[in-house]
Amino acid sequence: MPGAPTPDDFAARVPRHARPRHIAIIMDGNGRWAKARGLQRKTGHEQGVEAVRRTVRAAGDLGIGYLTLYGFSAENWSRPEDEVNDLMGLLRMYIRKDLAELVSNGVRIRIIGRRDNLAPDIIKLIEDAETRSAGNEEHILTIAFNYSARQEIADAARKLAERAAAGELDVRAIDEAVFANALETAGLPDPDLVIRTSGEKRLSNFLLWQSAYAEFYFDEVLWPDFDRAHLEKAIEVYADRERRFGGRPDEDGGEPIDRAG
Ligand code: IPE
Ligand code: IPE
Ligand code: MG
Repeated sequence: MPGAPTPDDFAARVPRHARPRHIAIIMDGNGRWAKARGLQRKTGHEQGVEAVRRTVRAAGDLGIGYLTLYGFSAENWSRPEDEVNDLMGLLRMYIRKDLAELVSNGVRIRIIGRRDNLAPDIIKLIEDAETRSAGNEEHILTIAFNYSARQEIADAARKLAERAAAGELDVRAIDEAVFANALETAGLPDPDLVIRTSGEKRLSNFLLWQSAYAEFYFDEVLWPDFDRAHLEKAIEVYADRERRFGGRPDEDGGEPIDRAG
């Protein structure tokens, strides 16, 4: 029957080996989604959580091993107190309501971002989520919350400097791998694909170090409307890209040179 492509069509179009191993998403547009409907921003954020649920499920189904979601930036503290409280409340609610299901679905949860200025009960929920899901390896869900890439990089530099000052680390041993290991994302592969919704085209202080060779995909869709079809489309576009990492394109696949003049 003609109509929307089925998941099987997708499997045929984009074989598993061509899919990104790690997808990172800047979930943007909750406020505009609400505004367009005459609703409160809070409702936009609530619907954003529904989109998170759909996306985590879809990414699992599509065999994406690593999914990283940008939930709250260190700069988001500059929003009105009410909105900050709503966002904190939604993280609490998400962990409380979804943790058991995530754990039973083989998802390991990891939260990156500073913890020192979060409410004690949120810190406890985060620690609990990480501990209870620690045995899972199938899917790694990382939530960037109270996260700033520059802060993460500066923190890593300080950590290494402290170890060097204490005589535990030879300064000459600091290289890219050692540095990457001092970041909060230690152990995670770099994102292959970074998606941003809502039409904005910037990183907003997200995974600066880790995205050095990521492919970027910008979608006009507002985050609360993001669903499996949007994710599949992004993966399909990714699968068609040629990643070069500074090398030369495959000789056979390159543009033929017209020698006829
Ligand atoms: C994304 O939606 C959620 C967070 C940044 C926490 P926004 O709240 O930024 O929505 P817009 O950009 O105002 O539409
Ligand atoms: C980035 O979105 C942060 C998150 C998605 C959590 P923002 O909406 O805060 O980004 P800017 O301010 O438009 O760059
Ligand atoms: Mg925004």
